Amino acid sequence: MTHQYSANSAKSILEQHESNVRSYCRDFPVVFHRAQGHRLWDETGREFTDLLCGGGALNYGHNPPPIMQDLIAYLFQGGPVQSLDLYTTAKARFVEAFRQTVLQPRGLDYVMQFPGPAGTLAVEAALKLARKVTGRHNIVAFTQAFHGASLGALAPTSVPVLRQASGVPLGGVTVMPFDGALDDVDTTAVIKKMLAPGFGIDPPAAFLVETVQGAGGLNVASRAWLGAIREIADAVGALIIVDDVQAGCGRTGDFLSTDFAPELRPDMICLSKSLSGMGEPMAMLLIKRRLDQWEPGEHSGTFRGNNLAFVGATAALRYWNDPIFIAESRKLTQAIRTAVEDIVNQAVRIAGPVASAAGRGAMSGIRFTNTETALAVKRNLFEHNIIAETCGGGRVLKLFPPLTMTVPAWEQTANTLRTCVVDAANAV
Ligand SMILES: Cc1ncc(COP(=O)(O)O)c(C=O)c1O
Repeated sequence: MTHQYSANSAKSILEQHESNVRSYCRDFPVVFHRAQGHRLWDETGREFTDLLCGGGALNYGHNPPPIMQDLIAYLFQGGPVQSLDLYTTAKARFVEAFRQTVLQPRGLDYVMQFPGPAGTLAVEAALKLARKVTGRHNIVAFTQAFHGASLGALAPTSVPVLRQASGVPLGGVTVMPFDGALDDVDTTAVIKKMLAPGFGIDPPAAFLVETVQGAGGLNVASRAWLGAIREIADAVGALIIVDDVQAGCGRTGDFLSTDFAPELRPDMICLSKSLSGMGEPMAMLLIKRRLDQWEPGEHSGTFRGNNLAFVGATAALRYWNDPIFIAESRKLTQAIRTAVEDIVNQAVRIAGPVASAAGRGAMSGIRFTNTETALAVKRNLFEHNIIAETCGGGRVLKLFPPLTMTVPAWEQTANTLRTCVVDAANAV
């Protein structure tokens, strides 16, 4: 493949002219040029294994052929790409496929809102609708939550650097402790108590919750905890919004991360990231039918009708009707958990309790006791041509291979990961 710039000049053009706000590229300062499956190549031909996975937007890997073929065919047949919220065949096919593949087998009756091309927009729409439906303003959010960088979704987000950048007060939210956030304390008992009448907290419109906190550090909510949140929400007349932007679309094993906790019964679910199949921007808000109290045009956005995303999303759903994909991705998930636990045990044998396994399903990683160790492993991995990010304030190494990665390919990657973690443990 030919390209216009040498690696150095492409990098210097971007460094000179792209805003200082850029971030991931500072940790992985090469210029990517080609991608396939779990592999990325930079302009010099150096090959990387991608465990960053577009922050969870590439659950089927880069340029998956079954999805790419449908996108290319759609373009060549002259299908409309941008269509605001006009009806299109591409959208209708997606809605029908989603109904058949995800909603119907679970007995769910949600309507689908397409709020625009980013996860944060699904959260914005959910918060707005919850406030409208209940007539209340307060949202219960959780410690270490991440819901997006636009102002509405930032209010329930914990990340200090993002909050400080908002430039305005971020209100309308009460933060409560997530599962496990207070050592040896049942946080649902705290939440129940704090929301009692007369304690000074305005009755919430909704609880906004991630079942596994992604950016917050792969913190896992247990089934019992989520069930207790449902009971509290019912008691105080609040809705439950699940932010499944990162944990959804199969990352935890099931298509919806809520499948393992049926008692949660979300009123709304935010999806994005891997929904479109190969990284096309797309978000969707699932709304229980009786709560769909929007007036026509009451919420808007130009890019609600990205038909390439609808085509990709329809093709992606085929994976979830394919028993081979489901069986293979389960094997991969098991292999990830086995490797993580094994590597953690080895690090602990070397240096004491410096690391622990984090996450659920293929939403897994390694939690270190300090940011320096996590950073050292991340840097060493990059030296070994593996790209992985940290989360949870920099202490948790996030390992997000595509769900389509083969177990042997993962095991080869895990061997390098083991070397890097052992090096770091020896240096503690
Ligand atoms: C749980 C969660 N919600 C919302 C968002 C925001 O999505 P986006 O970055 O597409 O706006 C993210 C992004 O990482 C996320 O992890």
